[in-house]
Amino acid sequence: NKEDPKFKQATLPDIQLWLYKGLLNITEWNRLAHFNNPFGFMEYKYNEVKGAVDLIPKPKSSILLPVPESSKDGCIRCAVVGSGGILNNSKMGKEIDSHDYVFRVNGAVTRGYEEDVGNRTSVYVHTAFSLYASILTLKQYGFHNIPQDEDIKYVMIPEGLRDFEWIQGLLQGKEANGSFKGERPLKYFNGNFNETRFYVLHPDFLRYIRNRFMPSKQMQGNYWAMYRPTNGAFALFLAIHTCDIVDVYGFITEDHHKYSNYYYEKLKKTSVIFFINHDYGLEIKTWKELHDSGIIRLFQRH
Ligand SMILES: *[C@@H]1O[C@H](CO)[C@@H](O)[C@H](O)[C@H]1NC(C)=O
Ligand SMILES: *[C@@H]1O[C@H](CO)[C@@H](O)[C@H](O)[C@H]1NC(C)=O
Ligand SMILES: *[C@@H]1O[C@H](CO)[C@@H](O)[C@H](O)[C@H]1NC(C)=O
Ligand SMILES: *[C@@H]1O[C@H](CO)[C@@H](O)[C@H](O)[C@H]1NC(C)=O
Ligand SMILES: *[C@@H]1O[C@H](CO)[C@@H](O)[C@H](O)[C@H]1NC(C)=O
Repeated sequence: NKEDPKFKQATLPDIQLWLYKGLLNITEWNRLAHFNNPFGFMEYKYNEVKGAVDLIPKPKSSILLPVPESSKDGCIRCAVVGSGGILNNSKMGKEIDSHDYVFRVNGAVTRGYEEDVGNRTSVYVHTAFSLYASILTLKQYGFHNIPQDEDIKYVMIPEGLRDFEWIQGLLQGKEANGSFKGERPLKYFNGNFNETRFYVLHPDFLRYIRNRFMPSKQMQGNYWAMYRPTNGAFALFLAIHTCDIVDVYGFITEDHHKYSNYYYEKLKKTSVIFFINHDYGLEIKTWKELHDSGIIRLFQRH
């Protein structure tokens, strides 16, 4: 409902959010194989992707998050929580948890940090790699499980063939083949996996976000094919497309150098690591613009 012309023009209200069984046939494959990776199927094999997609259940409802009964104005209020060091000692936990729904991404450590980041997770956004790597590397910060809230929705960003290999293992309850060979994806859900709460973002949605909201200058350079928005960026735009009011915490700001890389690095200050497949300058600018135009409220700590 915001009248910001730039964002209004970029928005496609009927963009396809989810990928699921029945959506992939040869015609659709030919269209999607036209786009390069990570958000197109160029050079993948039809049967490999099709086998995984045909296991993904069709969402029961086109609506990810229902309007809560307690909502007096019919609005859905969401918090999106990134892992930025800006949250260290912020005491935002209560405020975050007071939203109808809380989105988290990747290494969503909460235990021991509740005062700053809250403890609820309603939507957990991840790739196969980010889930796997977070468990592997964040044990030292107490991250032994992905979030396990009772009604949590697990939303996956497919960024490559390895995600489809993971999905196939996950939905068949078997060991994955390919990049995660020998891993049982289901194990990472600690008995809390239910197909009815599992969603996979459509490559059309992912390209739409990249091309219309986050077109980086990097896309004009030699490494154009590598560039992609962060998982946090996709989570934020998913929230904008599924909630009415979006408050954003722990996302990168202009003054990020004042804080450590991640909020869970409480003791030793580390600086933000810039990966070349992302455009952090653009993310800083975009979060600020969304905030200034009233589309989100960005926690900036001043
Ligand atoms: C193929 O899939 C697309 C997208 O799901 C659909 O619009 C189209 O009707 C399907 N075509 C055939 C021949 O089934
Ligand atoms: C979060 O903390 C509150 C208050 O301590 C507790 O009642 C609730 O069960 C916790 N929720 C989760 C998901 O751990
Ligand atoms: C992995 O490959 C083997 C051998 O081709 C096959 O039997 C098994 O079903 C595959 N696993 C998955 C999860 O697709
Ligand atoms: C998954 O959730 C559905 C809907 O809530 C429920 O009917 C079903 O029993 C659940 N399945 C498992 C395996 O828990
Ligand atoms: C986190 O905040 C505390 C309290 O302000 C501060 O003492 C500590 O240095 C901060 N940690 C990092 C890594 O910046």
